[in-house]
Amino acid sequence: MSRRLVGQTAWISGAASGIGEATARLFAAEGARVGLADLQADRGGDVERAIRSAGGEALFVPCDVTREDSVRSAIDDVAGRFGGLQIVVNCAGIVHGKLLHEYDAADWDRLMAVNVRGIFFAIKHALAHLRLNERSYVVNIGSISSFVGQAGTPAYTASKFAVLGLSRSIALDYADIGLRCNCVCPGITDTPMLRHHLHATPDPAATLSRRLHRVPTGRALPPDDIARSVLYLSCEDSAGVTGTSLTVDGGYLAAAEWETSRVTLPSDLP
Ligand SMILES: NC(=O)c1ccc[n+]([C@@H]2O[C@H](COP(=O)([O-])OP(=O)(O)OC[C@H]3O[C@@H](n4cnc5c(N)ncnc54)[C@H](O)[C@@H]3O)[C@@H](O)[C@H]2O)c1
Repeated sequence: MSRRLVGQTAWISGAASGIGEATARLFAAEGARVGLADLQADRGGDVERAIRSAGGEALFVPCDVTREDSVRSAIDDVAGRFGGLQIVVNCAGIVHGKLLHEYDAADWDRLMAVNVRGIFFAIKHALAHLRLNERSYVVNIGSISSFVGQAGTPAYTASKFAVLGLSRSIALDYADIGLRCNCVCPGITDTPMLRHHLHATPDPAATLSRRLHRVPTGRALPPDDIARSVLYLSCEDSAGVTGTSLTVDGGYLAAAEWETSRVTLPSDLP
């Protein structure tokens, strides 16, 4: 098996669950020392133990990405423990399923603080460590909602457009120090966030099935599929790639149709 991240340390927010957890496990298997930053201490501790019992190196650091002091100390703790930092992956995120007129300012600000301001804090405080390396990597998790409007999630969609724009700007401003910054944009991915979002609807199974009709591959993506794209952008396999986005969505954004089963091949295709 390849060990693409030997000698590298990665700080991953949202690492206690879903895409962040899958990324942490994959990075550790590839030889990285991983800092697991998350609000959820119980789950974060479980991920840390699982990585260590598989022979990897991991440190859980409690972190609220909305608080600058919390992000700064979580980054400094990981860099201090592992003797430097080369990779930052910003996975922490939340979603609300509600319309614009149902928001109050506090809810709106909370979502933006987790999904956007948290990335600002992480990159700002990681830079002191990243700049000490010849090469360094930042990968931010956007969404298909970085490109198109999604019904019922106005704040989330606004936040994910911001994540893509921020990623491009960071790529420009810090290229001189050897930093590459890119955005991975997942489609419908089977994580606790997705299940929580679906369970807020009257019929979760029907909601999922309706949404998957829009996906040519017809299934929710496993978090490991997203993690592999994050890995690609966090090592020299992607040398020369910066300021861009990698959509991993089972073809969602390629489809103009609402019902992709209508465009699948006929069974008598030669
Ligand atoms: N699941 C999907 O379908 C999907 C699709 C597109 C994009 N995304 C994005 O992928 C990223 C990961 O989402 P996921 O689906 O794995 O969700 P998830 O809920 O499984 O994981 C998100 C993690 O972020 C952590 N978190 C939330 N607020 C935090 C805070 N203030 N400080 C620190 N950690 C915090 C949570 O504790 C959780 O562990 C998010 O940015 C999400 O928007 C998910």
